[in-house]
Amino acid sequence: MAKVVFITGATSGFGRAAARRFAADGWSLVLTGRRLERLQALQEELAARVPVHVAALDVRDAQAVLRVIEELPEDFRRVRALINNAGLALAPEAAQKVALEDWHTMIDTNVKGLVNVTHALLPTLIETGAGASIVNLGSVAGQWPYPGSHVYGASKAFVKQFSYNLRCDLLGTGVRVTDIAPGMAETEFTLVRTKGDQAASDRLYRGTTPLTAEDIAEQIFYVASLPDHININRLEVMPTRQAWMPFAVDRD
Ligand SMILES: NC(=O)c1ccc[n+]([C@@H]2O[C@H](COP(=O)([O-])OP(=O)(O)OC[C@H]3O[C@@H](n4cnc5c(N)ncnc54)[C@H](OP(=O)(O)O)[C@@H]3O)[C@@H](O)[C@H]2O)c1
Repeated sequence: MAKVVFITGATSGFGRAAARRFAADGWSLVLTGRRLERLQALQEELAARVPVHVAALDVRDAQAVLRVIEELPEDFRRVRALINNAGLALAPEAAQKVALEDWHTMIDTNVKGLVNVTHALLPTLIETGAGASIVNLGSVAGQWPYPGSHVYGASKAFVKQFSYNLRCDLLGTGVRVTDIAPGMAETEFTLVRTKGDQAASDRLYRGTTPLTAEDIAEQIFYVASLPDHININRLEVMPTRQAWMPFAVDRD
């Protein structure tokens, strides 16, 4: 039977690259995201190779999540890997300058959205059993503090701890859980974070060697295709040209 992967945020960046990576290995794809035209373009690209089902989905809408899963065509119902990738950072300025609405959007998407999809697909994944995987996209920001990370980093710390805690409850079901925590990767992430400032996005990645969407897609595919008895708990991946700074000190 074909293996089915369910990807959130498949319209861009890691999610889109992961769709291509799983397709290259013959998996059937369920591709979701808000921008339907992008999903359809990806479906057109990959459908000659593997079965592809697309559904417009805002992960913040718990009812819509349930509907999309209930309406999965028969051949796509036995999901083996859930890639909880949909997410975003907003407002890179200091916490005290950020609109509350931006904090709410990050919590609603990165925390509640991820929880919505996980809760809805858990029974299916448990039914699939040995070899099933939940791959959550966390971030180095969930582990390491930096200025302007405020709620984004905190939401990814939630992803990390939720992943670990799920492992405890899923012990004995065969379902694996991984928190993949990338560092700087060039996708549409910074364009979204700066609300469309292409120059700011270009500036961030210029003159260095960030991770690519394909680099992370390879890691996502790796953890979901390991032998059934191996669970990678957390995979933190940074570009070689990125590291930490010393502690900041406020001086007179
Ligand atoms: N790039 C990085 O440096 C980096 C580093 C660490 C972690 N991450 C994490 O990796 C994940 C993917 O990011 P990316 O770098 O690939 O960014 P991206 O290119 O901006 O892609 C983000 C994806 O999330 C989807 N998305 C956003 N809000 C959504 C919502 N409410 N409902 C459904 N889908 C939604 C977007 O689709 P639609 O807009 O079409 O809905 C898009 O497909 C995110 O969770 C991000 O936090 C990124």
